[in-house]
Amino acid sequence: MMITATTTAGTGITERERDLPLPLGEGRGEGRSAEALAALQSQRQPNARSLGPGRELARPGWCGGMTSRVLKLQSTASSDSPPRQPSPAKPEEGVLSAIHQCDNLDLLRRVGAGTVDLVYIDPPFNTGQQQRGTPRAGGMAGPPASYADAWPTMQDYLAFMRPRLAEMHRVLKPTGSLLLHCDWRTSHHLRLLLDEIFGAERFVNHLIWSYGLGGSSPRRFARKHDDILFYGRSDAYWFEPPRVPATSARMRGLMKKATDVLDIPSINNMAAERTGYPTQKPLALLELLVAACCPPGGVVADFFCGSGTTLVAAKRLQRKWIGCDVSAEAVKIARQRLS
Ligand SMILES: C[S@@+](CC[C@H](N)C(=O)[O-])C[C@H]1O[C@@H](n2cnc3c(N)ncnc32)[C@H](O)[C@@H]1O
Repeated sequence: MMITATTTAGTGITERERDLPLPLGEGRGEGRSAEALAALQSQRQPNARSLGPGRELARPGWCGGMTSRVLKLQSTASSDSPPRQPSPAKPEEGVLSAIHQCDNLDLLRRVGAGTVDLVYIDPPFNTGQQQRGTPRAGGMAGPPASYADAWPTMQDYLAFMRPRLAEMHRVLKPTGSLLLHCDWRTSHHLRLLLDEIFGAERFVNHLIWSYGLGGSSPRRFARKHDDILFYGRSDAYWFEPPRVPATSARMRGLMKKATDVLDIPSINNMAAERTGYPTQKPLALLELLVAACCPPGGVVADFFCGSGTTLVAAKRLQRKWIGCDVSAEAVKIARQRLS
């Protein structure tokens, strides 16, 4: 019997994608393409050939001490065993329907390749500040939550994002997609990074979330939008155009397909959904994005989940979900929202 090691997502990767140059390496293999990492790991596994067909290579996890399963062994045709039906790729046990409190890179390395339909992330924007929340709605006790949002240089910020985005690319199904929420500070840098990791031809949209609230400036046009970069894992990414109320007089009262400018108010101070977590995003925005980019019953992952808005949207829309945040406060709030 001959045994070969492959990533589950390997089937969805085109020749063009395989030929993309590797990003610059950064210690421990960070920054290499996910496929290159998988190939390296399979070469380094001395016991790979002693495992049976369909068994998974395991390595110790960093996140909650759980086991990591990154590579799956597949057997080729053999004369002494019946042919095996390939089983659909699924996230590992214990990963799904859970909010993990750890560095997302540790969790990502435990998620199987090709198992997620939609990754939405809203990472720190590198504002140079500590983000602080407001007192919680409903008068919940405790100081406002906060998280660090500063890197010494843009290169440091991109070095933080690069290995995480490479892993997110790896965990997506061939029909999956990534939505990366950012703003004017980083959107141009992150788009180049995503072009490198996904391939420029995988860019789908640069969405504008237009929110209205906020101050003005005598020195420039008031900044009233965030950016959401949308990339498909392959050309066959799943998409269902969302419908929004038409605004023209001719179509008044009717619905129309949404454009790449999403007019959705940010959460006001009195809104029932406000948790007090800093930079919490409105549920209406996440519901629109999840419904548009994840098939019914599919898996949505948010690896910077904060107060858990994406996970709440996924649950309400009957999608499966995976959440992660390094902050204990964020995870506590997110778990409360989902319970
Ligand atoms: C902009 S907030 C997310 C807000 C969220 N979208 C919401 O609606 O509440 C970014 C989050 O990323 C988290 N974070 C930063 N670095 C992280 C890391 N390495 N792993 C996991 N989470 C991280 C922060 O703790 C923070 O909660």
